Amino acid sequence: MSDTKTATEANRQAWNLSAEHHRKSPLWAALQNDVQRPVFSCFDATMTEALNALDLRGKSVVQIGCNNGREVFSLASFGVKTALGIDQSENFIEQAQELNRIAAQKAEFLCADIYTLPHDTAKGFDLALITIGVLNWMPDLPRFFEIVADLLAPNGQLLIYETHPVLEIFDPASDDPYRPSISYFRDKPFIEEELITYDGTTPEGGVESHWFIYKMSDIITALLGNFTLTGFTEYPHCNREVDYEIYENRAAQLPLCYTLSAVKS
Ligand SMILES: C[S@@+](CC[C@H](N)C(=O)[O-])C[C@H]1O[C@@H](n2cnc3c(N)ncnc32)[C@H](O)[C@@H]1O
Repeated sequence: MSDTKTATEANRQAWNLSAEHHRKSPLWAALQNDVQRPVFSCFDATMTEALNALDLRGKSVVQIGCNNGREVFSLASFGVKTALGIDQSENFIEQAQELNRIAAQKAEFLCADIYTLPHDTAKGFDLALITIGVLNWMPDLPRFFEIVADLLAPNGQLLIYETHPVLEIFDPASDDPYRPSISYFRDKPFIEEELITYDGTTPEGGVESHWFIYKMSDIITALLGNFTLTGFTEYPHCNREVDYEIYENRAAQLPLCYTLSAVKS
């Protein structure tokens, strides 16, 4: 099994090595233009509705696993007063800072492993945000949620918009991508060496990365140690890499993603 330090250090290097691939994407070029607009949001309809429901005007938000910061910059359009993005990849935080220099709405970024945050990390946030493709990089979910809770003010809120665990039983690259090929109850991480991409490509040149498989019950049980669940909705649309879009619009539709809201207890 991977211990927390080995896994997070491996994942830091893997994300750093993948940053250049993401910079070459047309999405990066578009983002450079988009953040200069006075009002900018890259959130989809599901997240827009979830964020609007929270009424974030004048509030402070911390996003864990913010990557290049595209969602942190988007928070200003919901009236958020201060937004902090935390990510352990130096190369992605560098991209976020690059955007910060040209963005109409400035944000703050901290380059740190969530498991070993500096002692002077800002706290007392009104909302913690965790989105697409973050939880599975975390080797220790109960500890992760304990740290997230510690970043929040009393009664602070948590909003998760993640890929559904049921997708982990399918391999979209297999000969029969609709046949479950991985146990839902798998307890070993996938350790792979490709660059981490969103475009369905698997370029070589990466280093070992550790992707942990969690059941929905693992996620809920882990957060209940520090949060009270206030909402949970599953959706039939895909919010992860493009190669998973083949699981959308099926007659026997699976849940492909979910939003979960909770309040610090
Ligand atoms: C898939 S990306 C998140 C993308 C984001 N949801 C978006 O839509 O823009 C996952 C991010 O989590 C970060 N990450 C992984 N493990 C971490 C850790 N232990 N501490 C902080 N950040 C971490 C990675 O560096 C990566 O940038």
